[in-house]
Amino acid sequence: MEIDVFTLFPAAFAWFEGQRHVSNAVAHGHRLGYVNYREHSPLGGGQVDDTPFGGGAGMVLRVDVVEAALRARYDRDPVALRAERRIVALVPSGRLLDDALVDELIQEPALTLLSGRYEGFDERVLEHFVSDRVSIGRYVLAGGELPAMVLCDAVLRKLPGALGHEASALEESFSATLERAPEYPHYTRPAEYRGWSVPDVLLSGHHAQIKQWRLAQSRARAAED
Ligand code: ADE
Repeated sequence: MEIDVFTLFPAAFAWFEGQRHVSNAVAHGHRLGYVNYREHSPLGGGQVDDTPFGGGAGMVLRVDVVEAALRARYDRDPVALRAERRIVALVPSGRLLDDALVDELIQEPALTLLSGRYEGFDERVLEHFVSDRVSIGRYVLAGGELPAMVLCDAVLRKLPGALGHEASALEESFSATLERAPEYPHYTRPAEYRGWSVPDVLLSGHHAQIKQWRLAQSRARAAED
C-alpha cells in the first residue's frame, strides 16, 4: 500500500516511522510519503491558512493551498482524483475509526490522508476533494497529525509483513474472527502470582477447550459494554 500524508508537520512522523511494525511494513514494499502544504502554497511567505469569514477564533486551512499540494503530488485535478483513490480528511466530526473501517481501508492500494491544523479545513476541501472524513474520537486535538498516525498504525499493522506473527492481527479485539467483540484475556508466566492464578483451562493444553473458553470470554466482554 502507498500512503501519502499531507501535513504542516512532516517531522512529527519521525518517531512513528521508527516503530518496528512500520519499518517492517516499509521493508515489505509498503510506502509512507509526506507532503508539506507549506512547500506548495501558491501564496507569499508559505501562507497556508486564513481568518474565517464571518469572524470567530482560529485560522482555517485554505482550499487553494490544499488544491496546490494535491496537484503537486498527483498532477491531477483533486475533484477528479477522489474518484480514483480514497482521500481521507482527519476531522473530529468524521466517521469514527473502528476495526471495520480499518479492514475496509486495507483493501485499498493507496490512501491519501489530509491532516488539518488550526480550526480545520475550509469546508470546500471536504465537499470537493475528500472521499472520507474520519475521526479518531469525539474530542478535539490540536491537529490531524496524531489522528493520521493512529489511522496509519491501525492500517499498517494489518498489512502482510508488518507484524512478526501474522495471526496476531487476525484474532484480536473487534476483529471479524472474534465477532467484533473485545479480545479475551491473556496470561503469561508466572502461573501463580500473589495468589492470583491463571485459569486452569489455559494450562490444560486442550486447544479446542481453550478456543471455546476464549470465545466465551470475548462474548462476555461484549455483553458488558
Ligand atoms: N483533528 C482534530 N481532532 C481530531 C479527531 N478527534 N479525529 C480526527 N481528526 C482530528
